[in-house]
Amino acid sequence: MNDIRINKQRLWDSLMEMGEIGGTEKGGCCRLALTDLDKQGRDLFVKWCEEAGCSITVDKMGNIFARRPGKDNSLPPVAMGSHLDTQPTGGKFDGVYGVLAGLEIFRTLNEQGIETQTPLETVVWTNEEGSRFPPAMVSSGVFAGVFDLEYGLSRADLDGKTMGDELRRIGYYGEAEVGDREFKAFFEAHIEQGPILEDEHKQIGVVTDAQGQRWYEITLTGQESHAGPTPMPSRRDALVGAARIVELVNRIGMENQPNACATVGLMQVFPNSRNVIPGQVFFTVDFRHPDAKVLERMDQALREGAAGIVEEAKLEMAFEQIWYSPPVPFAEQCVSSVRKAAEDLGLSHREMVSGAGHDACYIARVAPTSMVFVPCEKGISHNELERADADDLAAGCNVLLKAVLEHANG
Ligand code: GLV
Ligand code: MN
Ligand code: MN
Ligand code: MN
Repeated sequence: MNDIRINKQRLWDSLMEMGEIGGTEKGGCCRLALTDLDKQGRDLFVKWCEEAGCSITVDKMGNIFARRPGKDNSLPPVAMGSHLDTQPTGGKFDGVYGVLAGLEIFRTLNEQGIETQTPLETVVWTNEEGSRFPPAMVSSGVFAGVFDLEYGLSRADLDGKTMGDELRRIGYYGEAEVGDREFKAFFEAHIEQGPILEDEHKQIGVVTDAQGQRWYEITLTGQESHAGPTPMPSRRDALVGAARIVELVNRIGMENQPNACATVGLMQVFPNSRNVIPGQVFFTVDFRHPDAKVLERMDQALREGAAGIVEEAKLEMAFEQIWYSPPVPFAEQCVSSVRKAAEDLGLSHREMVSGAGHDACYIARVAPTSMVFVPCEKGISHNELERADADDLAAGCNVLLKAVLEHANG
């Protein structure tokens, strides 16, 4: 059983086929959570899993559990998985890899006629990206008891459509209660989404921790008025205030190096007309750091700095931290299985902290969990140019297989 290897070409072909659903001209993918395209991606995954002999369960957050029976089906499964939703200008690998790596493991075990002691599951977590429905990782969060179901289902997009309505519309509001199953362990394979592995010529990232995140929503209100007759000194320009806060956010990130990340990624200007002084601006802030204390200091600096800016610019501010996901240490027994699998397979590897958020961060609260990273080209992700090498993807999937087998048979 030690010699089995996954099928590199089949994994690659499945990634490319899934990537066609929402495929973009630049070779990326736009498959936002709970859109018709997300439904198509889910349907394809379910079809492939059924063909691989799995039974399918969908819960009320639309999380999909594809189960391959084991010798003793009274035991909790060893689970794998990630997400199928993407960013608006996303790639073909972020999330999808972790899902299809799980499927590839089922196909490999079937082909080899291998039965594991515990059942295995591959999970698709709904709306990991949080791009359409903030916050990120919301459905694994409900599963782990971080959020309640009502909170999850009421998350709304910028048009006011809720996750609950959209889940029903696409037919993925399942019957199972969310969180009503136990995992013996959970493993998520993912592209690194940063440059470290590629720079150091390492094929496998053994992920020991994930950094914490704080997300904010800020609305600044000034006064709309005519861009011609309104004198500069009397203006209450909400966009000028927002621009200063963007500067502040960037400075906070720079002042907390190494490791801090600080981003304003979304902004809406009202009324967004070239000859009207902007009366209102809505924007988001994303702060990340592996140390909760530093994140706290960044939070303080943002609150104090933003208050000063709006006072000076004569604006009103609605300021809300909408999400805090603390730093996550992964379980030593799972981290060491990933390390050992990489060693046994003779693959170059290093330990690392995840810069991105992943469903594994929440599942770590309810099951021993860890992650396997593989390199992506130039570390580029959340971009249509996201690329990964078929050999690296296969190597990561083989590591995943070994780690999963150790827990499923041990
Ligand atoms: C989502 O992919 C995130 O890590 O922000
Ligand atoms: Mn992802
Ligand atoms: Mn992502
Ligand atoms: Mn992510």
